[in-house]
Amino acid sequence: MELTYSDYLHLDELLDLQQPRSDPPEHDETLFIVVHQAYELWFKLLLHELEKIKADFVANQLYPAISTFKRARTIMKVMVEQVDIVETLTPMSFASFRDRLDKASGFQSVQFRELEFVLGYKRADMLKYQRPGTPAFERLERRLREPSVVDAFYAFLKQLGVTIPEYLEKRDPTLPTVPDETVEEGVLRLYKTQPNLEILFELMTDFDEGFQEWRYRHIKLVERSIGSKRGTGGSLGVEFLKKSLFSPVFPDLWAIRHRL
Ligand code: HEM
Repeated sequence: MELTYSDYLHLDELLDLQQPRSDPPEHDETLFIVVHQAYELWFKLLLHELEKIKADFVANQLYPAISTFKRARTIMKVMVEQVDIVETLTPMSFASFRDRLDKASGFQSVQFRELEFVLGYKRADMLKYQRPGTPAFERLERRLREPSVVDAFYAFLKQLGVTIPEYLEKRDPTLPTVPDETVEEGVLRLYKTQPNLEILFELMTDFDEGFQEWRYRHIKLVERSIGSKRGTGGSLGVEFLKKSLFSPVFPDLWAIRHRL
């Protein structure tokens, strides 16, 4: 039988996955489900692209890394824009089905944590919010122990003659990225002397800024939807989220900007 559009995309399964829990049905719950599912798909694609970037860096493939960062940056921009759609949900409309979420929260999104870990924003204590023994838990644990994009970036920079201090090369991969002045000096030199690397560094900065923008937009979304209420995931809500706001994933690229 001929392959159809629907077969290829598994549309029957995909379109059967939006199952509101409110009874009687609340009109806006469908939007809430579709948006979260769409985000999870974007997270999936970003993880896929970031894995490629890691491999490109390690193999010293500048141009493939540039084109993939361009894509990742563009996905990030779409993710930020999607917040506009969620903001059409009023606080009262959200309140009408919020209790159906029970303890479910984006806080438990394994792919979001994977994304943070791949980018080097490692917080081992986030594992405790996942059920041990599940495939998701194992995936996240593996990501925690794996080198991040930043570790791969060090390998790339080293091949370009940048000194990478030994403590960074031998570092425990489960710890978060730390800024380093020696790396910054090397990046600064490349920024000023190699225009093709400037393109890469600017795309990485765009991506990083996009991720911080997402956090900011999400916090404002939370603030306007639930104000100072606690999150369904059990955190303090806005106060908890503010802790990671403005944390760059590529701190060395931000630290040198006043010297460019
Ligand atoms: C009305 C809409 C939303 C509200 C009220 C809301 C609320 C919250 C709150 C209060 C938290 C803190 C954790 C907790 O639950 O205690 C949180 C975390 C989170 N939410 Fe949302 N959220 C909304 C929409 C979204 C959307 C559309 C996404 C997209 C995937 C999302 C993804 C996340 C993620 C990934 C976290 C963890 C962030 C971190 O740990 O830094 N949320 N959300």
